[in-house]
Amino acid sequence: MSLEALPVVQGKYNLENYEDTCANFDWSDTEKQFSWYETGRVNMAYEAIDRHAETFRKNKVALYFRDDNREEKYTYRDMKILTNKAANVLKTHGNVEKGDRVFIFMPRSPELYFAILGTIKLGAIVGPLFEAFMEGAVKDRLEDSKAKVLVTTPELLGRVPVEELPDLKSILLVGNDIEENDIIVDFNKRLAEADRKLDIEWVEREDGLILHYTSGSTGRPKGVLHVHNAMVQQYQTARWVLDLQEEDVYWCTADPGWVTGTSYGIFGPWLAGASNVIVGGRFKPDTWYQVLEDFGVTVWYSAPTAFRMLMSAGDELVKQFNLSELRHVLSVGEPLNPEVIRWGLKVFNKRIHDTWWMTETGAQLIVNFPCLEIKPGSMGKPIPGVEAAIVDDQGKVLPPNRMGNLAIKKGWPSMMREIWNNQAKYDSYFLPGDWYVSGDSAYVDEDGYFFFQGRVDDVIMTSGERVGPFEVESKILEHPAVAEAGVIGKPDPVRGEIIKAFVALLEGNEPTDELKEDIRQFVKKGLAAHAAPREIEFRDKLPKTRSGKIMRRVLKAWELDLPTGDLSTMED
Ligand code: WTA
Repeated sequence: MSLEALPVVQGKYNLENYEDTCANFDWSDTEKQFSWYETGRVNMAYEAIDRHAETFRKNKVALYFRDDNREEKYTYRDMKILTNKAANVLKTHGNVEKGDRVFIFMPRSPELYFAILGTIKLGAIVGPLFEAFMEGAVKDRLEDSKAKVLVTTPELLGRVPVEELPDLKSILLVGNDIEENDIIVDFNKRLAEADRKLDIEWVEREDGLILHYTSGSTGRPKGVLHVHNAMVQQYQTARWVLDLQEEDVYWCTADPGWVTGTSYGIFGPWLAGASNVIVGGRFKPDTWYQVLEDFGVTVWYSAPTAFRMLMSAGDELVKQFNLSELRHVLSVGEPLNPEVIRWGLKVFNKRIHDTWWMTETGAQLIVNFPCLEIKPGSMGKPIPGVEAAIVDDQGKVLPPNRMGNLAIKKGWPSMMREIWNNQAKYDSYFLPGDWYVSGDSAYVDEDGYFFFQGRVDDVIMTSGERVGPFEVESKILEHPAVAEAGVIGKPDPVRGEIIKAFVALLEGNEPTDELKEDIRQFVKKGLAAHAAPREIEFRDKLPKTRSGKIMRRVLKAWELDLPTGDLSTMED
């Protein structure tokens, strides 16, 4: 436990007094700030974009976009028109209707954001797919969700096994010189000619909004469904935690293929009416600092792996940039090491604020508020209106300083409403007492600060990306030389964890370095680069239960030189 605390920095924050707010706050206070509270007509995209285009924010920049080839900006008024047009393209050329699943599989670009918001304006459910996914990963997700329309690029189309996806009726391609046919539609051409007027599809607060596929320790990736009501918490946390104010320029570095890139790359900042910076292309320390300087970023939301990479790029580099506009820095996705917080103080003269939440929770739940002292090593305190606790496996609340399951009392506004097509999986998240169990272990100190300790299950967090060992193992098993595979997260100073695979080969295969590389490439090409094991170790046999399940816990113990624990369920 850390005894040092970083004092509050003077400033005018959207949340001034944490304790008072916790005592007096009710989510209906937030609900009253949306137009639907009076009109009864709900749509996330309306609240995030169109509403501002009807106010003094009309000509405010909503989106600054930069990548290696493009530098563009769009006002709220532009965004309203372009998302209307995108909706019209989806309606006219994809027959998209309320409740349909529309998947978006492409690198970051303004069109990606038009397509996501256009889908939402039609009341359809949007499924963002990380651009690095390969054929197997793409197929699993489109198949499970029965996606009807896909928006992608000509470069990525090769990874979409169209013939094997009978539900997929239209593909909108974002690129140049697209040849249209029964299935393929030229998105840009149709966007240019589309009507700029649209009758938004008004939905219920509990209607589906977005489907994020994410990984657990067992089974295929699962579709986490969020509903329009998530905006209540996404807006409120954008105010309290991101502390977005009228003049802020905000940059969230996450890709919309992951939940941070939608909840806080799209919804939160635009609900709050901020100017949102979106940067495509690969991570490079100097280009990142350049973004902070060029756009005058004031609020910056990133992840520990990125901070560690910046840290290892050296302090001389950061001194070459003028980062004087930066006022608030936040982190999410993995434990934020105290060293990183100290480095942030040294080079930015800013406290980095940790935030904890998950794909399933839809929005931040435990955070370091700007108005609170930070205890380095702690994720902070629960959002007002949210009850968090450490519980045992029966759902009994544990006293301070005892390690257990980090759990949240059911009922926060942005909670997932469904695991797509899998009620049993959804139910498995809850313990008696209406506790949602996160899968993280943690403890809470006497002052109410939560400290992350690790995952309870086998989920791997590598560079802030969540990878399920089962998905990687399944892919490795498809390799013709492989008999058995077990995958674990191995601690790594920069990436948090790296993926390590233990592999037993089929008879007749030599355990060579070339074969290791071949297996790596096989996963990279079949699943995704970030899911490919960085380390592979050959073993004659892997530890299994009598029912044939690979015992990852034993693999982890081997790797870390720890005692293997109870082996009574292991086969002979
Ligand atoms: C981990 C990302 C430590 C945790 C928004 C959680 C964290 C998983 C933190 C969810 C944090 C997230 N400190 N660990 N501040 N934030 N995690 O679904 O293990 O991609 O369960 O959502 O990331 O990852 P996911």
